[in-house]
Amino acid sequence: MTFILGIETSCDETAAAVVADGKTILSNVVASQIDLHAKYGGVFPELASRAHIEAIGAVVEQAVADSGISYDKLDAIAVTRGPGLVGSLLVGVNYAKGLALASGKPLLGINHLEGHVYSLWLTEPNREIRFPVLVLIVSGGHTELLLMTGHGVYERLGGTLDDAAGEAFDKVGRLLGLPFPGGPNIERAANMGNLTAYRFPRSKRDESYDFSFSGLKTAVLREVTVPPIQEAGKKRAPEKNPKLRSDISVNDAAASFQDALVGSLVEKTVRAAREFGVTEILLSGGVSANSLLRQRMRAESELPVRYPPLNLCTDNAAMIAAAGFYRFQSGLRSGYDLDVRPMWPLTNTTYSE
Ligand code: KG4
Ligand code: ZN
Repeated sequence: MTFILGIETSCDETAAAVVADGKTILSNVVASQIDLHAKYGGVFPELASRAHIEAIGAVVEQAVADSGISYDKLDAIAVTRGPGLVGSLLVGVNYAKGLALASGKPLLGINHLEGHVYSLWLTEPNREIRFPVLVLIVSGGHTELLLMTGHGVYERLGGTLDDAAGEAFDKVGRLLGLPFPGGPNIERAANMGNLTAYRFPRSKRDESYDFSFSGLKTAVLREVTVPPIQEAGKKRAPEKNPKLRSDISVNDAAASFQDALVGSLVEKTVRAAREFGVTEILLSGGVSANSLLRQRMRAESELPVRYPPLNLCTDNAAMIAAAGFYRFQSGLRSGYDLDVRPMWPLTNTTYSE
């Protein structure tokens, strides 16, 4: 058996986990900073790195203790190298380097998006995934549609041209006066609302596999907030903190927004799955926790649709350890001088970098 310790600090979760053979989770510890950032309505980078520094030691200790595997039995240490917030990434990478150097164990620098992909390998370890598969990663920072033809082999078919899907949920959540993060709170409100109450635009039905959500966000803004006062002869300045109109239903607006966003994601994903003849559709990232997205994707595609359990949709280190396993298996190792890559796309060459 191969035991990999995974460490993840790319955004606002300090996480560590031990995974056996890339599929069995032995421990999975996540210290979330949601409460810390909620009062700012988003992730505050300086606070995030400070919180990572405070939490990382205890989180890693806990993950190793929970796993029942002693430090010396660990085969390698996998850590998120990017993309993400530079200060946050540095905390995890430096901590992992320290551990690896002190013990002489191999170090594996992992792409965070690749981690989200490999969360699917932890989902139903006994049901094998046959390539090629289509992967839709929808998180707070990313919306990526990938054709995956083998371990570490990705072709990017498309992605968002502006806001990420989760970012759109978070921004619209803020507009509607819902707490951070917007996604789960919009979903809760939407469950009590009428999705046909408002007509919001979807991504263009063009040939591409790209998405665009900023038009949708602006349409929600126009519909639900009090228009700014326009002085004669002056350009209308966007309001910094637009006020919610008193006559709108937050639940209906949430339901209509969610319907439009999910509709765009499902339409292009299902079309790509048909075009590329994949065996199944894999959903991952924080937004894949959304039950409307899961239901619609299942209803509209004749192929199996797989998604992680809720605790593996959002950021965690088990997925980093799982991605690390396949990299370890193929003999790839990172140097002890591993750097961070705040902007690091997931492409065909990511695996060997
Ligand atoms: O993958 P993740 O934990 O972090 C990033 O790598 O970005 O994703 C966080 C994002 C947030 O934007 C959050 O609003 C969204 O996932 N999210 C959801 C739901 N749960 C989390 N969006 C829609 N519906 C949900 N149930
Ligand atoms: Zn993520």
